[in-house]
Amino acid sequence: MKEKLQQIKLAAQAELEKLCDADQLEQFKVKYLGKKGELTAILRSMSGISAEERPIIGQLANQIRSEIETLVDEKRTLLAESAMKHKLEAEKIDVTIPGKKRPLGHTHPVTSTAREIEKIFINMGFDVVDGPEIEYVSNNFDALNAPDNHPSRDMTDTFYINPEILLRTQTSPVQARIMRDNKPPIRVICPGRVYRSDEVDATHSPMFHQMEGLVVDKNIVMGDLKGTLEVFAKNMFGNDTRIRFRPHHFPFTEPSAEVDISCFVCGGKGCRLCKGEGWIEILGAGMVHPNVLRNCGIDPEEYSGFAFGMGIERIAMRKYNIDDLRLLYENDMRFLSQF
Ligand code: DAH
Repeated sequence: MKEKLQQIKLAAQAELEKLCDADQLEQFKVKYLGKKGELTAILRSMSGISAEERPIIGQLANQIRSEIETLVDEKRTLLAESAMKHKLEAEKIDVTIPGKKRPLGHTHPVTSTAREIEKIFINMGFDVVDGPEIEYVSNNFDALNAPDNHPSRDMTDTFYINPEILLRTQTSPVQARIMRDNKPPIRVICPGRVYRSDEVDATHSPMFHQMEGLVVDKNIVMGDLKGTLEVFAKNMFGNDTRIRFRPHHFPFTEPSAEVDISCFVCGGKGCRLCKGEGWIEILGAGMVHPNVLRNCGIDPEEYSGFAFGMGIERIAMRKYNIDDLRLLYENDMRFLSQF
C-alpha cells in the first residue's frame, strides 16, 4: 500500500512538471484528487487493511494529498505568471515606431475663395446671411425690378419648378428678403449657389456660386460703393490693385456698372491673363434702384443703398489663374491638392 502511495506521488510529480496550461492542471486535479481519483480510490480500499496499518496508511495518504495540493497551487501560480508573461510579450508595442500619416483634406478652392471674400467684408462690418436656393419668382425677378420681358426670365435660361417657384438664378433675391425683414442700416453679404440653364463649357455651368453684397442706409452714395470695392480688391488681389467702373445695365441698380480690377499679374500693362487688356472684369454693381427699395418696404426718399454681385468661381479662377471652370467641379485630386 505504502509503495503504491509513493508511486502515485512520484507519478503525480512527474506529470505535473509537463503540464502547460490551466485546463491540463484542472484535469490533473480530477485525476489525482477528485472523487474518482487515484488517492480517493486508495482511501476507499482501506477496508482491506489491518487495523494497525490503517492509521499509518491513512495519514500517509492524507499527507501525499496535501503535498499534491500544494504542488498544484504552486503550479497554478507558475502557469498564471507565464500566461501573463506571454500575453505581455504578444501585446508589446513599440512606441518609437513612427505613426501612420493620415491624408488630411482641405477646403475646396471655391469654398476657400468664398471664405476669403467673406473675411474681407466682415472686417468692414458686414454680416454674412443666407437665402434659399429654391426661390419665389417674385423675389428673384419682380421685387428686383426685372421686367416680364427680361431675357433672364426665359424658360430656356431658368429652371422653373412651377410658374411661381424656381431655382434662383442669382443671389440678388436675398437682397429683397433682407430689406423686407430688417430696418436699415443694412450691411450684408450673401454667398450661395445659383442655377442657370447653361451648357457646360470652360466658362459656364448650370450651377455656380455668387456673392451678393447690399448696403442700405441714409446718405449712401456711389463713393461708398467705390471705396468699399476698392478695399475689397486690394485685400483680395494685392495692395497695388486699382478698380475701374464701366457703365452697364442691371434692372435692380441705377446707375449700374461693371467693375474691373487692374491685372494683378502685369499690373495693367497687358498680359496673357488679362488678354492684353490690363483689366479684368470681376463683378457687377450699382446704386439700388428706388423701385427695389420701394418694393421691399424701404422709403427711397429717406434711404439709399448700393449692391454688388460677383461669381465666386470667376474670382477663384482669376486669383489662381485657372482657365477651365470644369476643373473646379471634377474633384480630381491632382488638381485640388494644388490649393
Ligand atoms: N445678379 C447679377 C448677376 O447675376 C450680379 C449683380 C449685378 C448683382 C449688380 C448686384 C448688382 O447686386 O448690383 O449677373
